[in-house]
Amino acid sequence: MAGTKVEKKEEPEEAVKETTGADKELELDTLPGVGPATKQKLKDAGIETILDLATSGPMDIADAVDIDVSKAVELNNKARKKLVELNRLEPDFINAADLLVKRKAIDRISTGSKNLDDLLGGGIETWAMTEFYGEFGSGKSQVCHTLSVMVQAPKGEGGLDAGCIYVDTEGTFRPERIAEIAEARDMDTEKVLSRITVARAYNSAHQELIVKDLGRIIEPNKVKLVILDSAVAHYRAEFLGRGTLSERQQRLNRFMHQLLRTAEIYNIAVVVTNQVQAAPDSFFGDPTRPTGGHVVAHTSTYRIYLRKAAKNRIARMVDSPYHPERDAVFFLDDKGVDDPSEESIRKK
Ligand SMILES: Nc1ncnc2c1ncn2[C@@H]1O[C@H](COP(=O)(O)OP(=O)(O)OP(=O)(O)O)[C@@H](O)[C@H]1O
Ligand SMILES: [Mg+2]
Repeated sequence: MAGTKVEKKEEPEEAVKETTGADKELELDTLPGVGPATKQKLKDAGIETILDLATSGPMDIADAVDIDVSKAVELNNKARKKLVELNRLEPDFINAADLLVKRKAIDRISTGSKNLDDLLGGGIETWAMTEFYGEFGSGKSQVCHTLSVMVQAPKGEGGLDAGCIYVDTEGTFRPERIAEIAEARDMDTEKVLSRITVARAYNSAHQELIVKDLGRIIEPNKVKLVILDSAVAHYRAEFLGRGTLSERQQRLNRFMHQLLRTAEIYNIAVVVTNQVQAAPDSFFGDPTRPTGGHVVAHTSTYRIYLRKAAKNRIARMVDSPYHPERDAVFFLDDKGVDDPSEESIRKK
């Protein structure tokens, strides 16, 4: 008879959707104008659900189905509209008062340092993309490692009791470091490691494929944090020279927007790192020129510049829509990101 699927009948709206229950309403062919052939072409391109379709860029959709970009935009809009109907996405027009209420419901993940959390207004936000940029050794990967542990802490203790996806483009992810941080924070090391899904991206195209595939992993694993360490390194290495700069920026732009849409549609925190390249003309000042140039800067919701200062690290919030621009001091130790001891601050 109904067998094991009894509890999967119509869900009331407002209910938190479990993956399995939501599967049917997210089928591509529930959209007007999407027939079996289009559905198959989309699936072949890895666009499996309406969520995937809404997070894909028009160019990617156009390539997949072999249609004009304008038609692809239409298809993308239909997907977004459906998500609005399903209460999974904000409508285009929303009252500012409603928006404020909605923003109050945004979740935050602690960085592990109270100082840094204060700078961020309480931690990293979901529904947003946060960029950490700085020189080599400034602590970008350490921040990422610590966040992937912190997101798993219970609510009220800095975390969201959720999993993490760590896209490692430079081969610098270290499970041993995760274990060290978890242990120093009295967390169950095995459990913490098991809730981090690591994807090693070998080149920019591979990295783009991984990000297109995120949806499949986010929901079943209750992921609330996606990390890209680093977002731009492959683009920098593969597109050398002035001639290829615009192609690089275009590809990076598509990629960053896909990430931002993913953050918004799944209400997750996205963290990207970006290495600073010392520009010759800023030789005497801070080389605060991120490699991805304007593309990454414009797509990120929040940008934090990290630098070394003796044994401490200094973080500065740059260009935030609502945080004041100021500095916070943090420290790296066995807990990952931590606050400096009183003593070290006094010495400064
Ligand atoms: N277990 C640890 N305890 C204390 N500090 C550590 C520990 N592990 C790493 N560090 C510190 O972290 C620094 C490296 O930082 P990190 O790897 O985050 O740099 P990054 O900004 O990611 O650099 P890159 O641009 O090269 O990727 C080391 O120089 C060291 O000072
Ligand atoms: Mg690093």
